[in-house]
Amino acid sequence: MAKDSLPATIAIDGPAASGKSMLGQALAERLGYAFLDTGRMYRAFTLAAILRQVPPTDSKACAELAAAGRLRVVPGADSRVFLDNVDVTDLLREPAVEANVSAYSAIPAVREAMVALQRQLAASGKAILAGRDIGTVVLPDAPVKLYLDASPEARARRRSTQAAQGETEARRDISGRDRIDSTRPASPLAIAPGAIVIDTTGMTPDEVIAAAMEQIRCAAG
Ligand code: CDP
Repeated sequence: MAKDSLPATIAIDGPAASGKSMLGQALAERLGYAFLDTGRMYRAFTLAAILRQVPPTDSKACAELAAAGRLRVVPGADSRVFLDNVDVTDLLREPAVEANVSAYSAIPAVREAMVALQRQLAASGKAILAGRDIGTVVLPDAPVKLYLDASPEARARRRSTQAAQGETEARRDISGRDRIDSTRPASPLAIAPGAIVIDTTGMTPDEVIAAAMEQIRCAAG
């Protein structure tokens, strides 16, 4: 595939633990894109709010915190996230963040601040963004939109291996987040118009990457 025929942006959406980050990182490495895992931004915001004892019910204080510009993301295979210049990436899977991230992510003003940052990063070069609303809201004109899905059992199994967590607990966490993420009024998780759905249940990572590469090849013409 000729580099200059590659699409400017690739959107990857899908529910919790559907393999978005794995795919985004792999494609970014192969094709030379920047990769931004937008979930890390919402997780970092959640961490900031917890540390400052700002509850998700106080949407005014959350809006102020989101607008304060304390968050910085360095896109890359391992999108590192900084809060007040401290690298907090390794804290983003802490149980308190996991339990509260969907509540904070449902706040419209928080989303507006994150989306503005995400669009800025996407405009600075070839970029792959992974999240819940990339194809629907952040980059509705992305030439390639992928929506990854998998059965709840397969997703819980994958997450429990990654996070050294029991499968029952992982399933409870991800189904709780999925419910809030797909029913919130602001940018709910949804399949974007024109998105290709890849059901990754029973697929190996290499098979998922190959299916995505096929779509990128089509878009590249
Ligand atoms: O890695 P996993 O799929 O479990 O989740 P994540 O991508 O790190 O996202 C964590 C949470 O952030 C989600 O459950 C959503 O509540 C929120 N999120 C969002 O609202 N919009 C995005 N574009 C990305 C994440």
